[in-house]
Amino acid sequence: MKGFKELSAVALSLLACTVSAEDAEKASDVHVLKKDTFEAFVKENPLVLAEFYAPWCGHCKALAPEYEDAATKLKEKGIPLAKIDCTEEAELCEKQGVQGYPTVKVFRGPENASPYAGQRKSDAIVSYMVKQSLPAVSILNKDTHDDFTKADKVVLVAYFAADDKDTNATYTQVAESLRDSYLFGATSDPALAKVAGVETPALVLYKSFDEGKTTYDGKFEVEKLVEFAKISSTPLVGEVGPETYAGYMDAGIPLAYIFVDNDEDKEKLTQAVKPLAEKFKGKINFATIDAKAFGAHAQNLNLEQKWPAFAIQETLKNQKFPFDQDKELTAASIAKFVEEFSEGKIAPSIKSEPIPEKQEGPVHVVVAHNYDDIVLDNDKDVLIEFYAPWCGHCKNLAPKYEELGKLYFDNKDFASKVVIAKVDATANDVPIEIQGFPTIKLFPAGSKGSPVDYAGSRTVEDLANFVKEHGTHKVDAYVPPTPEPEEEAAGEKLGEAAAAASKVAEKAEEKVESATTKAKEATETAKKAASSAAAAEEKHDEL
Ligand SMILES: *[C@@H]1O[C@H](CO)[C@@H](O)[C@H](O)[C@H]1NC(C)=O
Repeated sequence: MKGFKELSAVALSLLACTVSAEDAEKASDVHVLKKDTFEAFVKENPLVLAEFYAPWCGHCKALAPEYEDAATKLKEKGIPLAKIDCTEEAELCEKQGVQGYPTVKVFRGPENASPYAGQRKSDAIVSYMVKQSLPAVSILNKDTHDDFTKADKVVLVAYFAADDKDTNATYTQVAESLRDSYLFGATSDPALAKVAGVETPALVLYKSFDEGKTTYDGKFEVEKLVEFAKISSTPLVGEVGPETYAGYMDAGIPLAYIFVDNDEDKEKLTQAVKPLAEKFKGKINFATIDAKAFGAHAQNLNLEQKWPAFAIQETLKNQKFPFDQDKELTAASIAKFVEEFSEGKIAPSIKSEPIPEKQEGPVHVVVAHNYDDIVLDNDKDVLIEFYAPWCGHCKNLAPKYEELGKLYFDNKDFASKVVIAKVDATANDVPIEIQGFPTIKLFPAGSKGSPVDYAGSRTVEDLANFVKEHGTHKVDAYVPPTPEPEEEAAGEKLGEAAAAASKVAEKAEEKVESATTKAKEATETAKKAASSAAAAEEKHDEL
């Protein structure tokens, strides 16, 4: 026994020797950056991946071991990974526009950052960053050209003369900005241009669907090329899913959905809308959507979950035009509907709960059909909460919001000037884009066109002060609680401090909640959706 003890003591001291303080710090290959080192670091290194995090954030903790592993693998390739603790470097994180944790960005110098759009796994990070380190444009020759045009679903190849510096520069700029979306190649071999059937300079988008390729022979201007890439890469009749949804929403044109729950309907209706998709190319996108996986999304379009179904969403105004589900979906009936939609002959459908017969409580209940009457009442300052029944933060706020409502409701003078209201934004179409729940806005009397967003902590006092400060009537309704005898006051203060602290934490969590549910995370949310109906409810606001 004694011998073992001595032995282990020796072993321990050996260990202690090898892990000196210095080595312990160096054990991580992730560079810790601070306000005074960040800029120099991203200047020195042409390509850097940086994570902005908070120690308490769960997603950051989950990412940490993956990030460490990726850092070690990428170190060999000369691509450094860095991290910034935003609880210590608030100023730096604010400057970088960090809104949720973790925020991961690719830097090419201090002025050029783009969001990391890969998965949060070591292998994905490594492959993403290796791709980022390659030139945005691959130079092609007669041996590599043909394979390259088939290397991905969408591939762009530019053909221009070796001395055409302007075209080269413009194209390179486009490739740099869209490198995460498509593969870009270029060649100055005139023989290859001939085979492609183009006069230089030209750009050809090769695709594994529809007509196979589309040629651009207009002027080489950045915006024109970007538009060409976006429009030509969109399939005539595509499919809405986690990878494509954000693209359709950002396309700036309406999206026509075809909900189908079997391959036969999918094929039949795809063929039926093809001529329309051709006719309205660049004006309306058409896509099928798998009703088995994403059927809950139909509710967002004011459709019942009955398949097949068809609806158009005007993405800019978030208006919905569902096709009457009592009528049969045929090539002719869809064509008529789309034509009428394009001529502005169809009114958008507005989802609304019934208007309450009487406003009884201190918080007014708003629905789509009384939204204008209450929220846009020009005589009143109206504070309105957009909530979702499943949202936990909304539930926590509810009692405080009632209390806030009472401050005005119980005072005749105040009640004539201020309305505290709420609307279930999942059951009512509201003319506002909701990014997260709860969203709170004040519509001041006399300037209903300029609502003010509430971003403070969710306490009665702060909310009331917000109404006072930003409301037209400047109603000061908050009455601070009368101070208690001294001893207890101390206890209460502590309680308040603790409450305030937890509120800060809640707010920070909240930011993360909204940031993580953004489109980029649609994959995750969509998977959740497929597995549970409740989650589907939550997800379809994002999908
Ligand atoms: C574009 O310019 C770069 C940098 O000068 C050059 O390496 C590349 O070969 C040019 N591209 C073509 C297709 O000539």
